[in-house]
Amino acid sequence: MWEKVWNTDKIAYGGDYNPEQWPEETWEEDMRLLKLAHIDTLTLNVFSWASLQPAEDEYRFDKLDKIMELAENHNMNVCLATSTAAHPAWMAKKYPEVLRTDFNGIKRKFGARHNSCPNSPVYRKYSTRLAEKLAERYQKYSNIIGWHISNEYGGECYCENCEKAFRVWLKERYGTLDELNRVWNTAFWGHTFYDWDEIVLPDHRTEHFTENKTVAQTISIDYRRFNSDSILYCFQLEYEAVKKYTPDIPVTTNLMEGTYKALDYRKWGKYMDFISWDNYPSNSDSFRRIALNHELMRGAGNGKPFVLMEQTPSSQNWQPVNSLKRPGVMRLWSYQAVAHGADAVLFFQLKRSIGSCEKYHGAVIDHVGNENTRVFREVTELGAELETLGGEILGSTQKAQTALMFDWENWWAVEYSAGPSVDLKYTDEIMNYYKALHRRNIPVDLIGEESDLSGYKLVIAPVLYMTKPGVDERIREFVRNGGTFITTFFSGYVDENDLVIIGGYPGRLREILGIWVEEIDALPKDSSNSFRYGGKTYSAGMLCDIMHLEGARSLAEYQEDFYAASPVITCNSFGEGQAYYVGTRSEEAFYEKLMEDICKEQDICPVAETPLAVEATERRRDKERYLFLLNHGDKAEKVSVPQACTDLLSSKAYKEKEQLELAAKGVAILKWMEK
Ligand code: GLA
Ligand code: ZN
Repeated sequence: MWEKVWNTDKIAYGGDYNPEQWPEETWEEDMRLLKLAHIDTLTLNVFSWASLQPAEDEYRFDKLDKIMELAENHNMNVCLATSTAAHPAWMAKKYPEVLRTDFNGIKRKFGARHNSCPNSPVYRKYSTRLAEKLAERYQKYSNIIGWHISNEYGGECYCENCEKAFRVWLKERYGTLDELNRVWNTAFWGHTFYDWDEIVLPDHRTEHFTENKTVAQTISIDYRRFNSDSILYCFQLEYEAVKKYTPDIPVTTNLMEGTYKALDYRKWGKYMDFISWDNYPSNSDSFRRIALNHELMRGAGNGKPFVLMEQTPSSQNWQPVNSLKRPGVMRLWSYQAVAHGADAVLFFQLKRSIGSCEKYHGAVIDHVGNENTRVFREVTELGAELETLGGEILGSTQKAQTALMFDWENWWAVEYSAGPSVDLKYTDEIMNYYKALHRRNIPVDLIGEESDLSGYKLVIAPVLYMTKPGVDERIREFVRNGGTFITTFFSGYVDENDLVIIGGYPGRLREILGIWVEEIDALPKDSSNSFRYGGKTYSAGMLCDIMHLEGARSLAEYQEDFYAASPVITCNSFGEGQAYYVGTRSEEAFYEKLMEDICKEQDICPVAETPLAVEATERRRDKERYLFLLNHGDKAEKVSVPQACTDLLSSKAYKEKEQLELAAKGVAILKWMEK
């Protein structure tokens, strides 16, 4: 079954529009320009709390009323925001509890945005009330296609409200202090708690040396869980508030890039009607990294289509150096989002502000105020294309035989760990495997530890350090039934409480992998070991496991140091399947080779064979197949089309195996019907 994100008959096109920052006389001209650019969707009311509620008991909607009318008169869809990402100054003055306290214990004053304490009763009361009032007032508008709660939730707070709420959260999780003392391992360094009120938040004044280094990992991980839940609860309150009046309008909040660490986006995804996110790569980011972010976001939404809520049409303002997107790149990256599951392409921002920090952030309507700019022309061309595409693609999804595990709690645990190496970065290890699959155009689902594995042929869980309850059983079942599993060094060490699973590494995975890891050596950046695999020598670095075979066979051995000749890559036959262990960090060529071998062996096929600069993904809906070809390179490339098909963008028909030429930064969307 497939479903569309939004009730539109084409890929929604538009973005953040802030007419409240401009005199009303300018609005009609804006509409003329936006229509010219084929824009049909406005994200409205993202930062208007102070004007909507000028005082505690006063609400004013006259301006927003006019803006909503404007949108309706011009047949624009509206993605309506609730404005709760920046509280009004009067609120901060009257109720200082809405202000956050930072990691160093400094109580903030009014200013900036994303500045409210998530556990402030006053913030929760007034943000929810505003959301409810907006839904009540604007429910009559049939052009509202989605709710946009707050904006880019994130950050932390270490205030007294949060501290009190943390104790309540802990009581719910652990029940008794005895249990809390056990899982927090408080016998270490005399931390035993005898009263819930003795518990304080882990910050720079308490358990932390720095933001990432803590004495008490379990306490810090629990704080991260609690903080993510606290902010999620603010979202849920507003979600319920708007649903009272508009039960059928889907609700979202715009997430930050896929690898935003502070919030457990997989957990958030369960409470959002659909995922939307903001894509702000810099020009030097690899397109494979952008692809990973899209996949993480698609994964957070359980594979369903999502909305690209923000991207800049040209430049950002917050990077140290804000280069322009080169001609064609905005179009290419827009289609890349669609290729990975986006059903909407939206910008931040439709019009440049004249003051404050975003006046030099790219926009569809520039300060010159007319249609005669390169950016406007590119936006218009893409708008025309999306109009021609119409309802094609909408609601279609990807199908993957390969899954990559990415788990936020595991990420927190890995990077809080004191030892074995500060160079171990979870996302880098994920990327090593993702990249090797992506360059082969193998579709990959990003899944969590809790996910069902049964539909996959291959599951890869790099650095599965924290094995949460049930994950080992699911992996065991999966391999027993014929699946191929790969994991790496620093896996299986701890349980969900960051307590070591005693009896030998990799803990609960030991039997599945058929190995025992006795020691782990950390190598400085400039030194390495090596091993031979498939007739070639590859580097081993950062971490090197020293292990014993317990049923697994060795596929490669170290060549140097006192553990030379001991296994580094192993494979264990378990039930009907295979479990691989990669005991070190290697180099790109190795990951490519390993993926090549395993995909061949397991008959996992790419969606298309392409030159390296050309990314290929596939979306499916019933019998319809959409193959996206995206040339990220600077020169034209040729691709042999896998099926007789039509390019939806050029309307050109191709025969099977015919050569298709893609210009630099060019895109093709090939459609055929499955027989
Ligand atoms: C974020 C925010 C927007 C805007 C852009 C600028 O994504 O959600 O309000 O500030 O950044 O890049
Ligand atoms: Zn707080």
